[in-house]
Amino acid sequence: MSIRTDLLSLAATGIALAVAAGAAPASAQESVKIGLILPMTGGQASTGKQIDNAVKLYMQQKGDTVAGRKIEIILKDDGAVPDNTKRIAQELIVNDKVNFIAGFGVTPAALAAAPLATQGKIPQIVMAAGTSIITERSPYIVRTSFTLAQSSTIIGDWAAKNGIKKVATLTSDYAPGNDALNFFKQNFTAGGGEIVEEVKVPLANPDFAPFLQRMKDAKPDAMFVFVPAGQGGNFMKQFAERGLDKSGIKVIGPGDVMDDDLLNNMGDAALGAVTAHLYSAAHPSAMNKEFVAAYKKAFNSRPGFMAVGGYDGIHLIYEALKKTGGKTDGDALIAAMKGMKWESPRGPISIDPETRDIVQNIYIRKVEKVDGELYNVEFATFEAVKDSGKTKK
Ligand code: PHB
Repeated sequence: MSIRTDLLSLAATGIALAVAAGAAPASAQESVKIGLILPMTGGQASTGKQIDNAVKLYMQQKGDTVAGRKIEIILKDDGAVPDNTKRIAQELIVNDKVNFIAGFGVTPAALAAAPLATQGKIPQIVMAAGTSIITERSPYIVRTSFTLAQSSTIIGDWAAKNGIKKVATLTSDYAPGNDALNFFKQNFTAGGGEIVEEVKVPLANPDFAPFLQRMKDAKPDAMFVFVPAGQGGNFMKQFAERGLDKSGIKVIGPGDVMDDDLLNNMGDAALGAVTAHLYSAAHPSAMNKEFVAAYKKAFNSRPGFMAVGGYDGIHLIYEALKKTGGKTDGDALIAAMKGMKWESPRGPISIDPETRDIVQNIYIRKVEKVDGELYNVEFATFEAVKDSGKTKK
């Protein structure tokens, strides 16, 4: 054999190998990429941390391969700044060729990414943000978090039926705060309640003190509070410093202000607060007990509602991929997600096939001490609550 034939056959073998590699099914080759866009720094960082933790926990428990394809998470910090979210989503879609974008710690971030999900036909899984309008902004959005309408309507009814006549409101001055305020007001006033004072506080670094003084002077029976996850600890600190805990003014609201992640450090000022919400770390199901124990073991902290939105969001992605047999066509994935039902640490949940929004139980809870720790103890359940805040068509 000449040197020349040897070289030729070597070259042929090389090409054959290259062809074999290229011809292998894409599913065995490429990972499914999920761009996880979260606030890992700044005022909303606790949301990012909880969701990142929960996604990691889920993947540790279930493995990182679905329908024969490896799952790759690309975590990016947007600091909850919507311009960053948009730029990052664009880079993830164009450069990294992600198959999903997920996360979205605040409403403006979720809205900023929506047109990109539509253009790219890429599922956008909203794991945190809670303004009703979000799912209407793209047919590729599916939400595993909650809406403020779900909880605020229910606490509005509860307050009116439970001897609360005068309420002062304190809400974060941006879209979900306005949803919380409007839906609470609608149900509370329809039940005969009166709003005696209304204040809106800035989203970034709020100083609650001047507003709290106004609240105290208005002498309401209760104070309706919405601040986003991460701010409840600071709010309750200032509430106690101003002596509002001794003034007989009850704290009510959607459960964001009593996030389990922070609750235990709020001190006794939080005792007796009644909120309506999707999740309590004290939810008494077997699944939740396991979830809380596994989360505590892995991260040495208590999971809050944001962690649950992340845990269910990654579950939704896994199950949709199982249904499509590992195919990542955006329309097929969205079709697979519509109507999906499963048990979450929060209780039974599903994806409304009409709106792609979450349907879930809303629980009314009261802060109590259990074995020396503060918990939101559930005492009433409203089953399978849909979002009532969509634009009327
Ligand atoms: C939101 O920006 O939509 C948002 C963030 C945190 C919450 C609730 C809503 O706790």
